[in-house]
Amino acid sequence: MGLVGNRQLVDKFGRVHTDLRISVTDRCNFRCEYCMPAEGMVWLDRSDVLTFEEIERVTRVLAEQCGVRTVRLTGGEPTMRARLPVLVAKLAALGVELSMTTNGATLAQQADDLRAAGLKRVNISIDSLRADRFQQLTRRDSLTPVLEGIDAAVRAGFEPVKLNVVLMRGINDDEVVDFLHLGRTKGVVIRFIEFMPLDAQGEWSSDRVVPHAEIVARAAEHFAFDPIERGSSPAERFVYADGAGEFGVIASVTEPFCGSCDRMRLTAEGQLRNCLFALGHSDLRSILRDGGSDDDLAAAVAGEIDRKWAGHAIGQVHFLRPSKSMSQIGG
Ligand code: 5AD
Ligand code: SF4
Repeated sequence: MGLVGNRQLVDKFGRVHTDLRISVTDRCNFRCEYCMPAEGMVWLDRSDVLTFEEIERVTRVLAEQCGVRTVRLTGGEPTMRARLPVLVAKLAALGVELSMTTNGATLAQQADDLRAAGLKRVNISIDSLRADRFQQLTRRDSLTPVLEGIDAAVRAGFEPVKLNVVLMRGINDDEVVDFLHLGRTKGVVIRFIEFMPLDAQGEWSSDRVVPHAEIVARAAEHFAFDPIERGSSPAERFVYADGAGEFGVIASVTEPFCGSCDRMRLTAEGQLRNCLFALGHSDLRSILRDGGSDDDLAAAVAGEIDRKWAGHAIGQVHFLRPSKSMSQIGG
């Protein structure tokens, strides 16, 4: 009998954890307003960031012993990590299904190599289709390269290509229909995401959240579509009646999907976090670097999952805002 599934990562609420998100770098070539300050970001020391071999070892233990089946690479901006296709090939060889969340700015150059190395799916973050707004939101004049990156991803054969759009009241909430048009034209899946209180910059307030019902209503003014089974996806999914694909809405704030969460996160410096909103973590790097065994790693992960709470409680009095932004935790 093999070890597979020996140590399934089941928490106190019966949730089985099969998805690992790995932040491969804290660095980014953008400075999105809700994520990073314009200047003065202090990056991790290279020696503090997990090596490819260390990432591969954690992933192997989790895949072979703990039942992890899907792995998503995140950042920061994952494509900022040098030789990323080398890591992709190492992880793909472990038999996990590999995807990546990226800002898309360098995909025109990297999409083919990443696809060839074994990456299967990409999510590209893009919050505006208007050059001036895009520049204001990301502090970079990069709408054109991102649009080219989307096309490169489609051409490279990633299936599906999804665009993540964080909607913010008064900032980009008038672009719902433009995004849906773009998705239908390019054959990519648009996914609108409710703005979560994760920004280190204090940009968030509850009246900036555009609730999913409003997004769907806006879409319904222009398109005919039907809801479809969401499976394990956190997105409510809608398929166009005319066959032009689908779009989705992730109601992370108004209808949290914590009850079916199957995710854990590994930060670039090797901390395992059981939730985006977790206030603590387990330090896997010290186990890796102090001669710990595979069993020690698996036990630390199991312990972290065992401490996972029921949900994030945004909007309730006891919600505690984490001091880290998405770029530090990994999306
Ligand atoms: N709320 C919702 N989504 C966010 N992202 C980053 N910060 C937030 C936030 N506060 C998104 C990015 C990217 C993904 C990793 O998470 O836009 O699509
Ligand atoms: Fe970079 Fe993503 Fe943060 Fe924007 S949101 S600064 S693209 S890590």
